[in-house]
Amino acid sequence: MARNFFVWFALAAILCSLTAISAKVSESKEFVLTLDHSNFTRFLTQHNFVVVKFYAPWCRHSQNLAPEYEKAASVLSNHHPPIILAKFDADDEANKYLAKQYRIRGYPTVKIFRNGGQLIQEYRDSRRADYIVEYLKEQISPASVEIKSAEDASGIIPQNKITIDFTVEAIEKFFGEALGL
Ligand SMILES: *[C@@H]1O[C@H](CO)[C@@H](O)[C@H](O)[C@H]1NC(C)=O
Repeated sequence: MARNFFVWFALAAILCSLTAISAKVSESKEFVLTLDHSNFTRFLTQHNFVVVKFYAPWCRHSQNLAPEYEKAASVLSNHHPPIILAKFDADDEANKYLAKQYRIRGYPTVKIFRNGGQLIQEYRDSRRADYIVEYLKEQISPASVEIKSAEDASGIIPQNKITIDFTVEAIEKFFGEALGL
């Protein structure tokens, strides 16, 4: 009897710990995708709108951004059309040449890749999750698509893969002036 109880107890302990593990797994489901040198380029060319955080694991600012970025990704995972948030370890030896190609000079650097990576814009604003969410929603909205074609038409983006290092204010100011607002 005592033995049976012990077996039962041991079994219960195993089940409990399994439950605990699976709860932990679903809790830690990551919404931020991981990209590296093996799939970065292919992934970008296959998507219309991808946000990439270039980071270094040891960097304090990268660490501070991580939970906010993850929170933003989780909120945006329900958005239509999809807004994909990805991360790229720019300090990983095998990834460094790509980071260099995209002119990553500081960590973290967040860039928005549109049209299969042909249009690249750096995000330099607030690193708070709610701000990131609102900003990206605005960026992917149809109104923003119109602005993009105005950009294209005015020849600001004459080549593929050019980096437009505009802040939001600079963009607003520019279009405010261009549109006579
Ligand atoms: C890219 O490759 C890395 C390493 O193999 C993997 O962890 C990651 O999930 C891949 N990302 C995508 C979006 O396939």
